[in-house]
Amino acid sequence: MFLVSGPELVIETCRAGVIGTFPALNQRTTDGYEAWLKEIRDRLEPDSAPFGVNLIVHRTNPRFPEDLAVTVKHEVPLVITSLGAVRDVVEAVHSYGGLVFHDVINLRHARKAAEAGADGLIAVCGGAGGHAGTLNPFAFIDEIRGFFDKTIILSGSISNGRQVAAAEMMGADLAYLGTRFIATRESLADEAYKQMILDAAAQDIVYTPSISGVHANFLRPSLIAAGLDPENLPPPGQMNVGHEAKAWKEVWSAGHGVGGVSDIPTCADLCRRLASSMKRRGAGPRPARAIEPAYLEVTAAASTLMETRGHPEKSIQ
Ligand SMILES: Cc1cc2nc3c(=O)[nH]c(=O)nc-3n(C[C@H](O)[C@H](O)[C@H](O)COP(=O)(O)O)c2cc1C
Repeated sequence: MFLVSGPELVIETCRAGVIGTFPALNQRTTDGYEAWLKEIRDRLEPDSAPFGVNLIVHRTNPRFPEDLAVTVKHEVPLVITSLGAVRDVVEAVHSYGGLVFHDVINLRHARKAAEAGADGLIAVCGGAGGHAGTLNPFAFIDEIRGFFDKTIILSGSISNGRQVAAAEMMGADLAYLGTRFIATRESLADEAYKQMILDAAAQDIVYTPSISGVHANFLRPSLIAAGLDPENLPPPGQMNVGHEAKAWKEVWSAGHGVGGVSDIPTCADLCRRLASSMKRRGAGPRPARAIEPAYLEVTAAASTLMETRGHPEKSIQ
């Protein structure tokens, strides 16, 4: 998540057996991004889950070519692309055995990403944090499954193990959690941002293009604190990835799932809780079961990389 996920969150999440990801743009420069990749690689253990990086594929992201080169150099196991699905990116990541999952909010984007060779489609449904879509997850997952037999990831308002198990039942292979992880000890979010999430309910989320140029979900109290009237927001400008940080520092994004977030655990505690809740609902026997197909695929890619480097093959608990 933009301005929220950094190495601590990724490392602790992966150590707890869940794939942790961060956007390359969370570091100010490509050199800084590379330093984070090195730190994550150094501190992960052989039995940690693989990690991933989000690349914004948009003409206003001037860092994209350099960031992609560093991603390939460090053989990032999972690359999550958003805003543009590009065959060249897929080929670059496949060249070292990595996987590409692409964010989609409608069927047209989903078909384009599938044609570009994406290994997984992330259905960013109504109520998700960040640049969310509006589609109902039951409808969207079924539509994607109708033509796509690779990995489907469900995103939007998933905060607990019961919901991860439900995502699996409705046809997704993986669940993608954002907002729940803002309120963790390791997240880079301001303490007041975390508290605002704890205090908020779904009705406090405003879906607007005014802040970012494309529709995204934001916390109503943060709009007010920034001097904006949520009922009378300014017209949207053009999206410009280079200018996003200023807006997102002041106005805080979160999804409808805020109502289910009531504490600030460590990532390890949160992942343990997710796993045991899933297990209680028959989605065990291990935390990875609901995410098994993609987890295994991602792990296979990571194992291949580890074998190449002489690390022992990892086992999945
Ligand atoms: C503060 C925030 C920042 C986000 N930044 C990004 C981002 O930079 N790139 C991206 O692909 N998705 C981003 N997302 C979306 C998440 O990756 C994920 O799809 C979404 O948060 C899932 O929905 P949930 O928040 O309801 O769990 C962001 C979400 C939030 C809440």
